[in-house]
Amino acid sequence: MEHKMKPESLMMSYGYKPSLSEGAIKCPIFQTSTFVFKNAQAGKDFFAVAYGLREQRKHEKLGLIYSRLNNPDLEILENRLTLWDEAEECAVFESGMAAITTVLLEFLKPGDVLLMSNPVYGGTDHFVRKILPKFGIEVISFKVGDSKEKVIEMVNASGHGDHLALVYIETPANPTNDLIDISASKEIAAHFSTTEKQIPLVVDNTYMGPLWQHPLKHGADLVVYSATKYIGGHSDVIAGAVLGSHELMHRIRGLRTFLGNMASPNTGWLLMRSLETLKVRMDIQASNANMVAAFLNDHPKVGKVYFPGNLTEKDGEQYEIRKRQCLTNGGMISFDVLHTEDEAFKFLDSLKMIKLAVSLGSTESLAEHPATMTHADVDENLRAELNISERMIRLSVGVEHYEDIIHDIRQALDKV
Ligand SMILES: Cc1ncc(COP(=O)(O)O)c(C=O)c1O
Repeated sequence: MEHKMKPESLMMSYGYKPSLSEGAIKCPIFQTSTFVFKNAQAGKDFFAVAYGLREQRKHEKLGLIYSRLNNPDLEILENRLTLWDEAEECAVFESGMAAITTVLLEFLKPGDVLLMSNPVYGGTDHFVRKILPKFGIEVISFKVGDSKEKVIEMVNASGHGDHLALVYIETPANPTNDLIDISASKEIAAHFSTTEKQIPLVVDNTYMGPLWQHPLKHGADLVVYSATKYIGGHSDVIAGAVLGSHELMHRIRGLRTFLGNMASPNTGWLLMRSLETLKVRMDIQASNANMVAAFLNDHPKVGKVYFPGNLTEKDGEQYEIRKRQCLTNGGMISFDVLHTEDEAFKFLDSLKMIKLAVSLGSTESLAEHPATMTHADVDENLRAELNISERMIRLSVGVEHYEDIIHDIRQALDKV
């Protein structure tokens, strides 16, 4: 039987032929805007397929045209990223927001309705609530714990069920680690789909990265990532990715070409370098997070700890979703300090090793205050409803020794 290699073994070589690059063991940075055609007919053929004027013929090999359409660093990176999620295709973007907004713009038009889970990353929330309405697109949102039946009823009650065009969820949700059921969300999308109109389900999988949750296996049609997070993983690059079927990705790639928001060759190269250590980094981050959460759970100055690993059978549906969807507890922990914003700030300002910064999934541990930072722009009442209080700290657990992370948290809590 043919041996199938695991993605982590393929990250160093998949899709790259040294013989095409003077034997260089690593893919060089193809820092070029354009590519020389072999002859005019080749140029004509490339454009005909790239612009959808005709289908690519069987066995027809297309070359490179222009780095807004394709570039070796992006193509090889995209091929490697498909391995983790077992996706047919991937497209990389200049940021996670570029990936998300391109998906929303491709599948929504004036008069359409978007169904979205809450909470989501603050930037996504801003785009959906403040920018999409300018284009006549409305959003209906649901929360953790809302059953499939309740959400369907809510959409029907809005009188806009006919205009539902996309379902978008973020799970685990930033910053509360709330879990949304991917397969139930797919059933909601299917409920409102017709033969003429298939409603795709999009999942922001940034919090779990490509290792710890595979939304496509649970029914998602597209997965989006802020590749700035675990995929990049070193706090030195901003990038995004979308993965899904050839059919849907053809549309995403098409809009990317005309928005011109693809990643640069240099970003592609950096992400390929990062992917080589994705598994080892994320393994350590997940095991560190378990240790840090256990410490926080027992600390007298810490209130609720929002961490998938804390879910028990008593938590019912959330526990079941955790078991079904997530392969680890992730590397993100939110927790409430005693009472006030002042106390939360005192904690943040007292950290020594852990950096006070937004972003997540990087090698170094990071801490921030969602209510006044990443989620400052989220409606105040909604924030309260979602438990994003002034006492909440969000922690991204890095690859340092867990005893050092805990030591730093302990000494900062002592000052509160
Ligand atoms: C869950 C989630 N999705 C999307 C984004 C946006 O990604 P980027 O900052 O790469 O544009 C972020 C950024 O923090 C995020 O946390």
